[in-house]
Amino acid sequence: MKVILIMAMTLDGKIAKHSMEPVDWTGTADKKKFVEITKNAGAVIMGSSTFKTIGQVLKGRRNIVMTKEPSFYSNQFAGSDNLEFTDKSPTQILKSLKDDGFESVALIGGSKINSLFAAQNLIDEIYITLVPKIFGQGLCLLSGELDINLELVEMEKIDNNSILLRYSLIKP
Ligand SMILES: NC(=O)c1ccc[n+]([C@@H]2O[C@H](COP(=O)([O-])OP(=O)(O)OC[C@H]3O[C@@H](n4cnc5c(N)ncnc54)[C@H](OP(=O)(O)O)[C@@H]3O)[C@@H](O)[C@H]2O)c1
Repeated sequence: MKVILIMAMTLDGKIAKHSMEPVDWTGTADKKKFVEITKNAGAVIMGSSTFKTIGQVLKGRRNIVMTKEPSFYSNQFAGSDNLEFTDKSPTQILKSLKDDGFESVALIGGSKINSLFAAQNLIDEIYITLVPKIFGQGLCLLSGELDINLELVEMEKIDNNSILLRYSLIKP
């Protein structure tokens, strides 16, 4: 199971100003890449805060939302297709996806859920869109003590001011 972290980041390494800020500052080219990469993966995993900022199910992909209160959200969104709330661990989620025939999944934030997967060395690739913005404060891509080595796989200028970087993680 290949786990692909996909994030838009400011030049100072922030993914949001605060937990409830929607990702509406990254531009059209980044949005297009996000849809392409996540649809290709087939499934997305996110935290409940990120789900709230998106405010809807991402169509054409299995949406897995991590929360400590899955029954609360499941009742609220009963009947929604392709949407599942879970308090399973990252490894249990990946195993279920594998059992269901998925070969890859996109990890789409936020900082807390990214960090949970990173701390357990579960991320295989990172796509970062470097957006021409600086927030000065806010949420980091990852938090907690980490020491990850990466290899640059490719880079693409996706519009006048943004670069998409693709890194592969060197597993310890
Ligand atoms: N720039 C980008 O590309 C990008 C992408 C995605 C998100 N974001 C931004 O990131 C921000 C949200 O990030 P965040 O770090 O605050 O929150 P988050 O990672 O999206 O979600 C945190 C929530 O996940 C649940 N959770 C955490 N650990 C868990 C565990 N072990 N098991 C089950 N559930 C667990 C909890 O939900 P409950 O409280 O429900 O239990 C927790 O409140 C938003 O502003 C969003 O816009 C930016």
